[in-house]
Amino acid sequence: MLLRCGKIGISTIILILVSFASYSHSARSDNLQFIVGGQNADEGDAPYQISLQTLLGRHLCGGAIISDRWLLTAGHCVSGYPADRLQVVTGTLQYAIPGAIYYPESIYLHCNYDTPKYHNDIALLRVNQSIVFDAHTQPVNLPIGPWAASGAQLLFTGWGTQSISGSTPARLQRVQQQYITSQTCKSLLSDYEDVELGPCHVCAYRQLNIGACHGDSGGPLVHEGILVGILNFFVPCAQGVPDVFMNIMFYRDWIRRVISGNAKCTQVHEQIIG
Ligand SMILES: *[C@@H]1O[C@H](CO)[C@@H](O)[C@H](O)[C@H]1NC(C)=O
Repeated sequence: MLLRCGKIGISTIILILVSFASYSHSARSDNLQFIVGGQNADEGDAPYQISLQTLLGRHLCGGAIISDRWLLTAGHCVSGYPADRLQVVTGTLQYAIPGAIYYPESIYLHCNYDTPKYHNDIALLRVNQSIVFDAHTQPVNLPIGPWAASGAQLLFTGWGTQSISGSTPARLQRVQQQYITSQTCKSLLSDYEDVELGPCHVCAYRQLNIGACHGDSGGPLVHEGILVGILNFFVPCAQGVPDVFMNIMFYRDWIRRVISGNAKCTQVHEQIIG
């Protein structure tokens, strides 16, 4: 899996700079925002959803619980953060009112993650105690084989912004998106010439004014209870082009190897990548 998969260009870079700039703002912010055009999620819609936060409770990114000790998120969500500066909120529709809080003991950023192109933008976090599962807190299944992508309806959830400068959602938002082929995705993203899609990507789209925004990164894309993507890239925000996810099928082996302790590269304690 050494494909340089996922060359993403200028607009992502802008996006990332925006989010890093807001990371560095002092305390918690009033300028958090959420999925554009979503609906309030209900209890049980996405019990695997987590809010990745600073220790002050500032929401940074989404992610998904995949077992009692492991979470998946986007690489760019954790790059720059030592594990002991982050917390994981589970079991809630309101990230500011945690069901429970867990603490990462280690972060495994994909060995071939890089910047500024955001190849292999995926990371695993191991928390230092077992996540207690209940009606609001459950792991999501990983794909065990190819899924019926064609025409598939995909559920995306997040606490990202409602517009580029939108406000904090009271509640987790959900949006139903549709799988689109890599070819259609490329053509819809053709104004963004640096975007190069590969087998490591999944594209999802609904329509103009419905889609991902700041704070949604790392969030889960789910097909019939199976995690198929982790949000990598979007043009801020809901501009009528697809959202691009890291393809979990493609990273299954990497996930298995990291969890079993057989990953080629070691965990990232600080900013050492590779
Ligand atoms: C997990 O980490 C947190 C934060 O560092 C700490 O307060 C807590 O005691 C740790 N829990 C366990 C079981 O080690």
